[in-house]
Amino acid sequence: MAKGFFVPKTLGILGIVLCVAAVCTIVALSVVYTQEKNKNAPQHHRGPTTLDQSQHRGTDTALPQTLVPESYNVTLRPYLTPSEQGLYIFTGSSTVRFTCKEPTDVIIIHSKQLNYTTTEEHRVVLRGVGGAQPPDIDRTELVELTQYLVVHLKGPLEAGSLYEMDTKFQGELADDLAGFYRSEYMDGDVRKVLATTQMAPSDARKSFPCFDEPSMKASFNITLIHPRDLTALSNMQPRGPSVPLPEDANWSITEFESTPVMSTYLLVFIVSEFTYVESKSPNDVLIRIWARPSATAEGQGSYALNVTGPILSFFAGHYDTPYPLDKSDQIALPDFNAGAMENWGLVTYRETSLLFDPLSSSSSNKERVVTVIAHELAHQWFGNLVTVAWWNDLWLNEGFASYVEYLGADYAEPTWNLKDLIVVNDVYPVMAVDALASSHPLTTPADEVNTPAQINEMFDSIAYNKGASVLRMLSDFLTEELFKKGLASYLHAFSYQSTTYLDLWEHLQKAVDNQTAIRLPATVRTIMDRWILQMGFPLITVDTKTGDISQQHFLLDPDSNVTRPSEFNYLWIVPISSIRNGAQQEEYWLSDSPADQSELFRTTGDEWVLLNLNVTGYYQVNYDEDNWRKIQTQLQTDLSAIPVINRAQVIYDAFNLASAQKVPVTLALNNTLFLSGETEYIPWQAALSSLSYFQLMFDRTEVYSPMQKYLQKQVKPLFEYFQTTTSNWTQRPETLMDQIHPNLRSTVYCKAIARGGEREWDFAWEQFRNATLVNEADKLRTGLACSTEVWILNRYLSYTLNPDLIRKQDATSTIISIANNVVGQTLAWDFIQSNWRKLFLDYGGGSFSFSNLIRGVTRRFSTEYELKQVRKNNIMTLHGSIPRPNNYQHFLTPFLGGRFSSKLLISCNFTCKYFSHISNKGTF
Ligand SMILES: *[C@@H]1O[C@H](CO)[C@@H](O)[C@H](O)[C@H]1NC(C)=O
Ligand SMILES: *[C@@H]1O[C@H](CO)[C@@H](O)[C@H](O)[C@H]1NC(C)=O
Ligand SMILES: *[C@@H]1O[C@H](CO)[C@@H](O)[C@H](O)[C@H]1NC(C)=O
Ligand SMILES: *[C@@H]1O[C@H](CO)[C@@H](O)[C@H](O)[C@H]1NC(C)=O
Ligand SMILES: *[C@@H]1O[C@H](CO)[C@@H](O)[C@H](O)[C@H]1NC(C)=O
Ligand SMILES: *[C@@H]1O[C@H](CO)[C@@H](O)[C@H](O)[C@H]1NC(C)=O
Ligand SMILES: *[C@@H]1O[C@H](CO)[C@@H](O)[C@H](O)[C@H]1NC(C)=O
Ligand SMILES: [Zn+2]
Repeated sequence: MAKGFFVPKTLGILGIVLCVAAVCTIVALSVVYTQEKNKNAPQHHRGPTTLDQSQHRGTDTALPQTLVPESYNVTLRPYLTPSEQGLYIFTGSSTVRFTCKEPTDVIIIHSKQLNYTTTEEHRVVLRGVGGAQPPDIDRTELVELTQYLVVHLKGPLEAGSLYEMDTKFQGELADDLAGFYRSEYMDGDVRKVLATTQMAPSDARKSFPCFDEPSMKASFNITLIHPRDLTALSNMQPRGPSVPLPEDANWSITEFESTPVMSTYLLVFIVSEFTYVESKSPNDVLIRIWARPSATAEGQGSYALNVTGPILSFFAGHYDTPYPLDKSDQIALPDFNAGAMENWGLVTYRETSLLFDPLSSSSSNKERVVTVIAHELAHQWFGNLVTVAWWNDLWLNEGFASYVEYLGADYAEPTWNLKDLIVVNDVYPVMAVDALASSHPLTTPADEVNTPAQINEMFDSIAYNKGASVLRMLSDFLTEELFKKGLASYLHAFSYQSTTYLDLWEHLQKAVDNQTAIRLPATVRTIMDRWILQMGFPLITVDTKTGDISQQHFLLDPDSNVTRPSEFNYLWIVPISSIRNGAQQEEYWLSDSPADQSELFRTTGDEWVLLNLNVTGYYQVNYDEDNWRKIQTQLQTDLSAIPVINRAQVIYDAFNLASAQKVPVTLALNNTLFLSGETEYIPWQAALSSLSYFQLMFDRTEVYSPMQKYLQKQVKPLFEYFQTTTSNWTQRPETLMDQIHPNLRSTVYCKAIARGGEREWDFAWEQFRNATLVNEADKLRTGLACSTEVWILNRYLSYTLNPDLIRKQDATSTIISIANNVVGQTLAWDFIQSNWRKLFLDYGGGSFSFSNLIRGVTRRFSTEYELKQVRKNNIMTLHGSIPRPNNYQHFLTPFLGGRFSSKLLISCNFTCKYFSHISNKGTF
């Protein structure tokens, strides 16, 4: 699954050019705005939806292993018009055939919010297969808490026998974005309804009774009964043309081919009027991109179609395994909770993650599309063909896809340097979380992940981004070639089965043992245990006078106490690459001892060394002051001697070290001086994200103005560089990283709304309501948050509680946008406090939304007073009234620990030549 939120990155530089430095003129932008607007006259209305159901959560425990499913027949019929009571429902019937492994007199199967109508007497009918005699049913019960349907039998099922269990049932086709649900949109003035699914991680049980655990794989025969004029889609192709339902010719029956043996969380059923564009991959796989008919007609599926074939071919080669199915459908849904979901053979997306309009989408939208597609297609093998047995190993599934998405996207767009972006998108952002004493290891014991809420908590940035970072490090020290060999061996061995991460290590080890060129200091498992069983990462410290090298657990807050014990004492086995005066040195392994010494790191005269080439290692580096100074001099005289990713690294690492009080803030600031000669995106992004912290802390203080002046001075040469390369903003630059001019929309909207009043806001709101392209609507929605009028922002906040105005999937990101506006900050905070309960019920159970909301709204908090407010108002309220605070605590802890106790000393350190006006601010 891909995460729901996405912050456009290429606009970051613009942000600083326009907002912080204010070098640019609004006049020039207005011209662009008008030009772009004319290209994209809106044609259709974007429709409202009514969404008002809270997330349901319960508890359950793993199913007993006594029964093993083999095959299901599932027939579902969604009604896309409400019943007389105003309820949208679906009806269904199913047969599950299972083998009994151990004698038992109870059948336990998952079922959630389903009403059974099977027979007058019982909820199920049981049959023996192949001569097996079924015991009589005593009674059945639905256990809401564990989401079980329990069938008590009068006698035992026999080991080795096959049985079939039939059910008929009915469920609500709610607009809750979970299980079998409905999505609505406007086509002109007509409200359209479609039925779709989101089974992962544990809602397949909400559409039919099933053994709903990833390792309980089976084959599925899906049949959909649907209005005659709509199309039914599922994981597989239809067996043949749809046929009319005998009793009502307004309905059709579409029967799909049997699926391969697969997990329930990867099932998908969709009934819609959507249309598609199609092509064939080189290996004859049918590729289709589905969307609302108007979006397809406007060519918005074209880009996705263009990149899907190459990405599928890339992964088939990368895994040395053909694509396992004969078609690859991808569909853009108007209402979708995550970013995308890798359902086997029919991947579902948020519209912004799949659709692209060359005329009005920005290149960061394009980058988003190609990387999300690569992520989901990577799962079609790693995750779908071979599946981790339980959710505690989610990090392997998601970390892997989050790593190889860059490889797949890079194959489709080879000129964009996409692979480098993992450093700014994944590695450093997750280090900021993982450097807190409240972080947690990648692995979680299986028995600590039981309830759907606990399963949801697995979907965090540690799983995705740290998972990706350590797998990238592993692939780098093994070499990609060897990594691929082990990976292919693993996929071949476990196709259609389930695994744990140890199975992957074992096959990588086989690949290592099979050759002699690459030698490791220990087994793959021994090395990787240090990275996945203990939280955090090492800070490597080098003294270039002596060649001393040491490691210690890096903590952003030097005063925090690590309470979580580690069997490895927070020591790691660290692969260390380095350059000396620009020349690469041999790889060095730091063993899991605190300190060591090597000639590789001893320098004389003007020589400098720099560790962690391209930041493939998951660690940060500090040097003696001399070496830092020599690196600064090198960067300011000839920055090409240092690879572009490492130019970002010196900024990121130094600011983190400053936060941890390991180096003075002035050193970190001096590390940014070379930026006046820097034209690459990644080092600038490093500076922006490092400095944004300072900006957030200071934009309400008198420090802000000198800080602006400093940044302005740094940015001016960059601005002039782009002014020249774009021939005064008239030419579109060649490479993605340079694409500034065509991508001004977001900034323009924001500026226009900030300077405007009610009339401008209402105009933009109308544009938003009418935007047919979601990329465009999203930019407007974000821009609307830039208003400087308090009452307008308050009115906008209230809109987020009304799904007719702001879709439920967009509510939290809209509130965050408002909080990002310095005027909106306190308003958003007040709003959250007064609507806490509703927001928590709506988003508290989701994987990403709620934590993003809290983090987003409190980003600027820096005073003791604000800390008290967070503590008092929210934790208390939560403990008092909501039964399940662990989800909340989970993400709030890093926030509290990191922000307020990090004691970023702003006092005397800061009274430096850059921000000369700063008085003693104390600590926060
Ligand atoms: C599903 O269809 C396949 C192929 O027709 C068949 O072998 C299998 O028995 C069916 N499953 C069930 C539960 O009937
Ligand atoms: C399952 O569906 C298949 C195909 O529609 C049919 O042939 C088979 O008899 C069904 N199995 C059961 C147990 O109903
Ligand atoms: C299921 O039954 C409950 C209790 O009778 C009822 O409130 C609910 O509306 C039913 N749901 C559906 C989809 O029929
Ligand atoms: C997709 O490829 C076609 C043919 O190469 C090209 O004409 C079209 O512009 C591409 N679409 C996009 C959105 O890049
Ligand atoms: C080991 O090497 C042999 C010969 O090159 C090859 O056939 C085999 O697939 C390799 N095994 C693994 C696990 O890499
Ligand atoms: C860490 O432990 C020390 C000594 O026990 C204590 O003084 C300090 O307050 C603790 N720090 C935090 C952040 O809890
Ligand atoms: C570092 O990354 C660059 C791309 O940014 C690549 O060209 C170079 O080969 C990489 N260096 C190493 C040592 O892998
Ligand atoms: Zn994923």
